[in-house]
Amino acid sequence: MMVRIPNVLTAEQVARCREVMTKAAWVDGKVTAGHQSSQVKNNLQLPESAPEARELGGMVLQALARSQLFTSAVLPKQVFPPLFNRYDAGMTFGAHVDNSVRSHAASGITIRTDVSSTLFISAPEDYDGGELVVEDTYGRHSVKLPAGDMIVYPATSLHHVTPITRGSRIASFFWTQSMIRDESKRSLLFDLDMAIMRVAGDHPQHASVVELTAVYHNLLRQWAEV
Ligand code: NI
Repeated sequence: MMVRIPNVLTAEQVARCREVMTKAAWVDGKVTAGHQSSQVKNNLQLPESAPEARELGGMVLQALARSQLFTSAVLPKQVFPPLFNRYDAGMTFGAHVDNSVRSHAASGITIRTDVSSTLFISAPEDYDGGELVVEDTYGRHSVKLPAGDMIVYPATSLHHVTPITRGSRIASFFWTQSMIRDESKRSLLFDLDMAIMRVAGDHPQHASVVELTAVYHNLLRQWAEV
């Protein structure tokens, strides 16, 4: 299940990210790559412990906490402190799967990566190439979103970033351990939640709203790891 989450960051927050990043010290993105992915990864990152990453990462975490759509789609147990990367012309990240377990040295957080997220900070018209391509059983899905929008996708997916041919692409990326490990169950709960919200919007007094809400929470109660 891939879900687009619009307007995670406001235009002002995107501008703040870009301003901070122009002064930041970028390092080779291989610092957080595993053995296989380091061979296909060619980009830049802010170090996990950089003050810029902490400030902007905190801003992203606050935005996520306010996003009903993120909560519904991901059912987060623990979000990894957001990281930031940059691809300049010629840079790319070949096909890989994200590491299954991630530790963040500065905060001591260790999570199982269930859901991957990419939050676009560059505007799509500012660079060519740089599509995030996620593979699943239905084929390849190419993603390039407006600044401030985010895509969430299963961390189990093979994915890559196509080469940049003009400009620079800046994004935030991070992983989430979900309360629901099984992607099919997470997807089912998301579909149910969306349907309940639609019914509740169209027929707020209908008895099925409370009944379906009870089913949702009782499924969550059966499946959630908290
Ligand atoms: Ni990746």
